[in-house]
Amino acid sequence: MYLCVCNALKEDTVRALAEEGLSFKDICNITGCSSNCGSCQEYAEAFVLACQSTSRPSTVLPLFCPT
Ligand code: FES
Repeated sequence: MYLCVCNALKEDTVRALAEEGLSFKDICNITGCSSNCGSCQEYAEAFVLACQSTSRPSTVLPLFCPT
């Protein structure tokens, strides 16, 4: 599904960038998202935040080194 129609930018592309840790501003600079009509900005920013919050590990597992 397109997230930014003006730039033919798909959700999958934005999700991948967000999961790599790029900020919304970084993603906009790279892809051009929100740079034309701007109607996608509110949804796109919320989408990036949602992707980032789900890509972080919820727990830190201890390392186990058998001796
Ligand atoms: S839909 Fe994203 S700038 Fe127009």
